Amino acid sequence: MLVCLLRASRGIGLELVKQLLESPNNLVIAACRTPEKAVALNALKSSAKGSLHVIRLEVTDFDSVRAVPQAIAPILGEHGLDYLINNAGIARQDTPLTLDPEVFLETLRTNTVGPALLTQVCIPFLDKGKEKKVLNISSTLGSIAKADLFEHLRSGGAASYSISKSALNMLTYKLKLERPDLIVITLCPGWVKTDLGGENAVLEAKESIAGIIKVITSATATDSGKYLSYTGEAIPW
Ligand SMILES: NC(=O)c1ccc[n+]([C@@H]2O[C@H](COP(=O)([O-])OP(=O)(O)OC[C@H]3O[C@@H](n4cnc5c(N)ncnc54)[C@H](OP(=O)(O)O)[C@@H]3O)[C@@H](O)[C@H]2O)c1
Repeated sequence: MLVCLLRASRGIGLELVKQLLESPNNLVIAACRTPEKAVALNALKSSAKGSLHVIRLEVTDFDSVRAVPQAIAPILGEHGLDYLINNAGIARQDTPLTLDPEVFLETLRTNTVGPALLTQVCIPFLDKGKEKKVLNISSTLGSIAKADLFEHLRSGGAASYSISKSALNMLTYKLKLERPDLIVITLCPGWVKTDLGGENAVLEAKESIAGIIKVITSATATDSGKYLSYTGEAIPW
């Protein structure tokens, strides 16, 4: 059985849950801020081949993150957690000289600190899992090597977001160093048509997610600490 915890009410997270539930062998625990409003997510319960459990999680509220073990322990029973997927993210338009410090902190709290704490509290469950994989959904915008490549961002755009993803990348690498027995990947899903990616994005969620699932399920110990695209290609740091 593949057991997976991820954050998912819409966008990439929702499509990930959908595709993971195509296998009757998969048990998915999807976390979201307001389960009662997550209509599309809850609807998957009736069509899914695998089993889906939805729990409440607000990643910026650290008490909410610390309550996750209590919520998932009865679902998992004797099973460990095979995969933890840190997917939730927010993006605001700002630059180094226009950024609002509160928005900057909120972005870091959601995109970096929340995933760090969720990983900490999930470690005992990952330790009991067979796969022991952590997937952090990052972005190519977190790459310093690629920061000059995007014309519309050359004047410093998406600063808070990009910094939060660079930090998530480093968090991934630090975790790989601390826990070489885990397989930890930081990954860009591509530019995907979601609320965050916008209508001009080039990828349908379906295509991106099929790639993500292939990358993370086939990842081995030698891949741990890598910064990858949904196609499996390495992204320069
Ligand atoms: N789309 C792209 O082109 C693209 C490109 C590169 C990287 N990414 C990354 O992919 C991930 C998913 O993005 P997306 O495109 O699917 O975005 P999205 O459609 O805007 O969905 C964002 C998801 O994050 C959740 N979320 C946001 N803040 C949260 C919080 N404080 N606590 C719990 N959940 C929270 C949202 O839940 P609610 O429904 O409750 O708001 C929603 O499920 C993000 O990490 C993003 O940075 C996306």
